[in-house]
Formats: sequence, C-alpha cells, structure tokens
Amino acid sequence: MTATILDGKAIAQQVTAQVAAEAAKQAHFRAPGLAVILVGNDPASQIYVNHKKRACEAAGILSMSHTLLEDILETELLELIDTLNADDTVDGILLQLPLPKHINSETALLRIDPTKDVDGFHPENLGRLAQGHPRLRPCTPYGVMTLLKQTGQKLAGLEAVVVGASNIVGRPMALELLLADCTVTVCHRQTRDVAEHVGRADLLVVAVGKPGLIKGDWIKPGAIVIDIGINRLENGSIVGDVEFEAARERASWITPVPGGVGPMTIATLLQNTLTAFHLHIE
Ligand code: GUN
Repeated sequence: MTATILDGKAIAQQVTAQVAAEAAKQAHFRAPGLAVILVGNDPASQIYVNHKKRACEAAGILSMSHTLLEDILETELLELIDTLNADDTVDGILLQLPLPKHINSETALLRIDPTKDVDGFHPENLGRLAQGHPRLRPCTPYGVMTLLKQTGQKLAGLEAVVVGASNIVGRPMALELLLADCTVTVCHRQTRDVAEHVGRADLLVVAVGKPGLIKGDWIKPGAIVIDIGINRLENGSIVGDVEFEAARERASWITPVPGGVGPMTIATLLQNTLTAFHLHIE
C-alpha cells in the first residue's frame, strides 16, 4: 500500500479562504483583531510570528504586533496583557512561546482573557476541552482534527496513539481524539515499548521533535499517520519525526513534513480568531 498524502498546505488555504469570506461578511462591523506578543529575539519565534502576521493579512484579520525586549519585567508583560484584555478591537491575544526564563509562562497565560485565548492554552479552555465542551482549542491539535476530517474516515472506535505529551500539542491532541471517540494511548519519555504501542495504532500522531524516531516498519498496515515534528537536519532539509518514505509504504494516509500539519496550525489560529471575534460581537 502507498499512502495518500494529506496536503496540509492546500487544506490550510481552503480554511484561510473560508475565514476570509466570513471576516468579509462582518467588515461593515469591524475586522477581527489579533494582538501578537513576542518577547525577546528567539529566531524561530520571530519566523513563526511573521508567518502568523502574514496569514492574518490574507484572511482580513487585523494583526497588531507587540515586540518586547528580552529583559522586560514580568509585571510589564502582565500590564500589556491587561491592556489588551480591555481593548475592544482585540479579539485574540497570542503570546508566542517560549518566554525568557525569568517570566513565568503559566502566570502570563493565565492572565489572558479566556475569550481572547486564541492558542487555547488557558486552563479554562483546556478544561473545557477535557470535559468535552470546547470553545477555543489549541491550534495544532485542532488543525490535525481538520486534516483527519478530510480523510473521510470514521474516527470513532479507532486505536489512536499519540507519541509526545507536551502541554501545547500531545496532551490536547489526546483530548481531541478522545472527544472524537477514539481509544487513546499517550506515549512519553517513560513509556517502555513505544514500538509496541505504535504497532497497534490505527491512527498515529507523533509530536516529539526527533528526526527518525518512529521507524517505518513499526507502522500498522493501513494506519493514518500524522507527523507533527519539524526538524532541521545538518544538510538544511526539514523532516518530521517519522521515517516518511518507509512509513508511506504501509500507511493509508500520511502527512508530509513540511506541508502537512505546520500550515494547519496557522490556519487554525485564524479560525480561532474568528471564533473569538464572534464571542465578542454577539
Ligand atoms: N510556540 C511554539 N508553538 C506555539 C504555538 O502554537 N503558540 C504559541 N503562542 N507559541 C508557540
């Protein structure tokens, strides 16, 4: 079997076009607004933030940048968040992570108004997802759910295995799959036999950040494989966490890296900003 490629770039363009059409319908009222906060000069974060701002422009969302110096005090960041929480033209607040070590990320994320939390990282939004009535949902896992919908496959009852248990991807991914009625296993650093779990997976989602971690011959024939890893090799090429060429010979569907989950994360941020906009205008 050779897998069908799940083209995240194309699906993200469709999602962006839908958001743009919806935003245009509300243009008589105002444009949805997204405030993007970047603290310090992490080069990867600068690139992500620029992509997010460009995507906003394509969707008719007004993006407002707040670039803060690396040594800003935590209290100053919290004051900015308070100001943005109170600003009626701001529907979404995106605080790019990681933050400098002297700032407590949990404190900062907790300060964001949950109705403006377009990353879905606030405990209220994660709690809602955990209890099965989500509102704003973490972008990467929710983007994966949009990709999975495109396969047309029924998810209920599937054995789903998530490799990686981070707060921003692996854990909310597991909650999304549980909400879709999958039977969910989460593998992490202490998992004894990852290959054994992967071999049972009808649906495999990997979010670790280690190239080649998941061997192609571990994949269950016919599985759906979603690779969230983005790794730059020494030769400059970008690869995921799964051995792509070998895995695609066994899987039914597979995401490429790049061009799979990455573009969906940004498109989902636009969707979330539109959702937040509706929360504020209705
Ligand atoms: N850093 C890495 N991924 C993300 C993300 O999805 N949102 C934010 N705010 N920061 C990140």
